[in-house]
Amino acid sequence: MKAVFPGSFDPITSGHMDVLTRASRIFDSVTVTVMHNARKQGRHLFTLDERLDILRTATGHLENVGVDSFGGLLVDYMAQEQKGIILRGLRAVSDYEYELQIAHLNRQLGEVETVFIMAATRWSFVSSSMVREIASYGGDIREMVPRASADALRVKYADVYEERERASTPTPD
Ligand code: PNS
Repeated sequence: MKAVFPGSFDPITSGHMDVLTRASRIFDSVTVTVMHNARKQGRHLFTLDERLDILRTATGHLENVGVDSFGGLLVDYMAQEQKGIILRGLRAVSDYEYELQIAHLNRQLGEVETVFIMAATRWSFVSSSMVREIASYGGDIREMVPRASADALRVKYADVYEERERASTPTPD
């Protein structure tokens, strides 16, 4: 059985990686698909190409995992690619209502089933938006994201991280 793990992945987090790793042991193959909308391009920190690069690096060790992108309705992608199941992660009860709505809409629109995998509790509070917020202040996000995301965030906010490091380095007397 094939699965598609759709999302914005701006950038991929350790919670996403946890869900993806668990799914790769269950499904024959999993495609991580960045869903993008040309009209919403400016709303992301990372460009589509940057997100795809990060994803390819972060998932390179998972043999049955591929990376793709699509700019349209998820149900159209599922039909076009004949991919089977939509995979989504759940962190906490707060995710459930939103995910339930999307899952029902996708089933109504395209008769596609959604399977949920629970992320480990240690990732309950980690989201791409929180990681972006912390990184924008030069905070330590290395535990919360895979190395590829951490490196890319570090480059994006190089000036903030350098300033923070300068401020915390003791000056010689
Ligand atoms: O990572 P996110 O932002 O929670 O992912 C949401 C996503 C991209 C899976 C969802 O917005 C989506 O499927 N977008 C594609 C357009 C679509 O099919 N919309 C109808 C279902 S909400």
